[in-house]
Amino acid sequence: MLHRGAALRRLQHQPLALYFSLAVNAYVVLYLMFHTSTMVHQSVSSGDSRSNPVHPLMSDYTRAHRAEGLGVQPLFGNANVWPSLTGAAPEVWAAGTLGANESIALAVEAALTPDEREQLQALCGRCLHQTITQSVEVRGIGESVFVATGDIPDEWLRDGAVQMSLYLPRLAEHPVLRPIIEGAIRTQAYFILSDPWANSYRKDWVRPERLGKFERQIGRGGWVATRNFEVDSGAYWLNLLWNYASTPGSLWAAAAFLNSSLIHDAAALLLDTWTTEQRHETDSPYRYAELPREGRGAPSNYTGMIWSGFRPSDDPNTYGFNIPVNMYAAGSLERLVALNDRVWRDPALGAAAARLAAEIRAGIEAFGVVRLQPEEGQGGASASAPSGAASSSASSSSSSSSSGSASTIYAYEVDGLGGVLASFDDPNIPSLLSIPLLGYPHYDPATYQRTRSRILSSANSHYYSGRVLSGCGSPHTPANYVWSLAHCVQGLTSADPGERAGLFKQLLQMQGSNGLMHESNDVNSPQQLTRPLFQWANSMLVVYFEQTFGRSCSPLAEALRQQGVAAREAGQSLTPRNGGPDLPAYYDRLEQNIPHVP
Ligand SMILES: *[C@@H]1O[C@H](CO)[C@@H](O)[C@H](O)[C@H]1NC(C)=O
Ligand SMILES: *[C@@H]1O[C@H](CO)[C@@H](O)[C@H](O)[C@H]1NC(C)=O
Ligand SMILES: *[C@@H]1O[C@H](CO)[C@@H](O)[C@H](O)[C@H]1NC(C)=O
Repeated sequence: MLHRGAALRRLQHQPLALYFSLAVNAYVVLYLMFHTSTMVHQSVSSGDSRSNPVHPLMSDYTRAHRAEGLGVQPLFGNANVWPSLTGAAPEVWAAGTLGANESIALAVEAALTPDEREQLQALCGRCLHQTITQSVEVRGIGESVFVATGDIPDEWLRDGAVQMSLYLPRLAEHPVLRPIIEGAIRTQAYFILSDPWANSYRKDWVRPERLGKFERQIGRGGWVATRNFEVDSGAYWLNLLWNYASTPGSLWAAAAFLNSSLIHDAAALLLDTWTTEQRHETDSPYRYAELPREGRGAPSNYTGMIWSGFRPSDDPNTYGFNIPVNMYAAGSLERLVALNDRVWRDPALGAAAARLAAEIRAGIEAFGVVRLQPEEGQGGASASAPSGAASSSASSSSSSSSSGSASTIYAYEVDGLGGVLASFDDPNIPSLLSIPLLGYPHYDPATYQRTRSRILSSANSHYYSGRVLSGCGSPHTPANYVWSLAHCVQGLTSADPGERAGLFKQLLQMQGSNGLMHESNDVNSPQQLTRPLFQWANSMLVVYFEQTFGRSCSPLAEALRQQGVAAREAGQSLTPRNGGPDLPAYYDRLEQNIPHVP
């Protein structure tokens, strides 16, 4: 505890709350997060895994790697042992190695050099080590956990939800993560209740009188950092609830935690807000100065989908109804219905969520599936007619969307008035490229494949190819800059090991000087980049690596943590006061003493 005293002296001019949050952060999060323990599963498993550190359900592939000493730790090799609250799979960013495909893993490995494999593993370890050590703060007595996006000190609901989901499959190894994740879920619920239209929130409440006129006019202040209405923000939070409830391990009593008025009310408020925004033009009070028509945005007409002011990039929508965002929202609502059945059992909430999900789905099928002009073919340009916008084609559109007729693709945005944006995809997620990852089971795979090849070609107005990199760029960043988020999504949606390996090679080129992922890199000089610290991108690199190779990056992150401890304590030669051994597992054991309600 000597260094706690030193920290206190350094911080004595700071407010007590800051000291406290830093202290908890340093001593609970940073110090303990990656303690790897071979007693991991003792308190919940029944017998056999206790005596056998290699679980019987572990695949031969992971067994072989463990035997080779490659640091393999299956995160979910034992998923069948402990039922989750939902009994269903979480989203891919909460799945760890669950669902990784062994034959693809071996083929991708074969397409990489030993040096590239080693570099990738080290990169994954660094990325996993990042969020939890640099961007998470436990506040108060732990009821609130703030997750910063990286170099911007505010919390985005979307980024924070993915950053936290990444650690869910590590709960069995690191039970001390449980209160951190629960605190993050509660904090997002509180933020949503404070303003369901906002997309990012501040760590500290901002007094109104400290705000300039412009900031007040665009709705900032209080907890709100930016008030860009983006439907996917709330959907990420709903899916975080799902991921939490779907993480194997009844140990964590997910229903007991989720069954709070704070969480129920935030979900209900989101549902109300989204229902209002189906009829944005007539019913919504939302205005934002950056949008045309005195902040209302471009004209739109009811489609069943939910209107957004802004894309997941925070750039303004061209047309109000973004197709992949609505797929993500519809999937999150179907999951909300299932969670409601198990947790809150609120009939009004369940019925409203089911109705909204169905209306969105009908809207996607009627307006979101568009035809390429016959002469355009696969590489064709724009000007696709929305199949459902003209009332005369409504019946044919629903059949074409379900059967995926040869010339249909998914549009990126539509307005319900005939406006269609189909020659573009943004690299932020949800995107057209990411459709199979969005938890929306109703998409048509053939239509998706046509959309995917078109997005990964010059038919996408923001697809860039250079000497070193090629991929998806965004109006949010300069021309010829491509995003690692889209590289990871392209890999996660590909069954072609050659494509996956090629993307990994590019990602190695995108590390910049700090050995992490970033927002975007120049296709000719990848060391030219935007946003040096971008935790969502770091998180997605971990997802792509673990899902591809079926191998956990936890041991590498743990090695980094231990290096950090060693560096910090290098000058301190004191042995523990009781003369006993060092207790690296101290806090994990403390956690195990907390009663877990069955
Ligand atoms: C949720 O809480 C309410 C009120 O405390 C309780 O009646 C209900 O049984 C709880 N539901 C579950 C699934 O635990
Ligand atoms: C708007 O949608 C309604 C149906 O919801 C339709 O009757 C009407 O024709 C549409 N308006 C325009 C301008 O497309
Ligand atoms: C793994 O991927 C290959 C290639 O796509 C596929 O044929 C195979 O069915 C997959 N295996 C599993 C277990 O999903």
